[in-house]
Amino acid sequence: MITVRAPATSANLGSGFDVFGAALSRPADIVRVEPADETTIEMSGAGSEYIPEDPEKNVAGAVADALSAPARIRIDKGVRPSSGLGSSAASAAAVALALDALYELGHGREALVPYAAEGEALVSGEAHADNVAPALMGGFTIATDGGITQIDTSIPLVVCLPELVVSTRDARRVVPASAEVSEVVDCVGRAATLTAGMCRDDPTLVGRGMADEIVTPARAALIDGYETVHEYALDAGATGVTVSGAGPAVIAACRHPDRRAIASAMLDAFADHDVEARAYQTRVGRGAELL
Ligand code: HSE
Repeated sequence: MITVRAPATSANLGSGFDVFGAALSRPADIVRVEPADETTIEMSGAGSEYIPEDPEKNVAGAVADALSAPARIRIDKGVRPSSGLGSSAASAAAVALALDALYELGHGREALVPYAAEGEALVSGEAHADNVAPALMGGFTIATDGGITQIDTSIPLVVCLPELVVSTRDARRVVPASAEVSEVVDCVGRAATLTAGMCRDDPTLVGRGMADEIVTPARAALIDGYETVHEYALDAGATGVTVSGAGPAVIAACRHPDRRAIASAMLDAFADHDVEARAYQTRVGRGAELL
């Protein structure tokens, strides 16, 4: 049997819609996998009651099928579904890594990304790599058709997860079909700034690069209290704030000593809107690990 810890991830980071992703040092899924004649799945942990155990409807089943590697899979969720924290990607990455090791498939992490993305396709209808790439490879990742670029960094972050549900499918429906050239120019500049910040381990540049006027405003409107959370986090010292993935989690970049105050401010802001939430003081971290 193989046990894998696979991290939550945050996709988009504002200016990198469907491209950027970051592995978070916490929370994480723990997944146990052993060979079997046919794939079975058992779920426990955060939000597991909402996740089907039928292998044909579960990301883990899709990954096992894509790798032609049947297994008994037990998933203990640390990341609840529909959170904006790469819940399905964590399970998909863990299962891909475990099956690669169990069956000695020899793919390696980057080559496993498309297999893990098959699980994403099952959940959201599209095989995005922006969560599974950092879940497998760790750090900050840039996922394009040409491949994955990975950068090791440890930028401090706060992630605040409200007790709201935003489905990825709904969040994709509100993405604008087009943008003005001036908006695209600004977004390219922000994305380049964020990337430079990740390379230099510079929270100021990362935060500045998170701003986005194309996709984020439409998604923020789906999250009760978002504007207040954004304002309070910046007031508490965050260098940048945006929607995490498809939401409803909100992510803030910051300096390490400011994390606690920012987490508290974000919780206060959601409370002002009668929304329960929990905050994770985290950072950009490692990819899935065999335990
Ligand atoms: N990039 C994706 C989105 C991540 O924001 O819709 C969620 O699958």
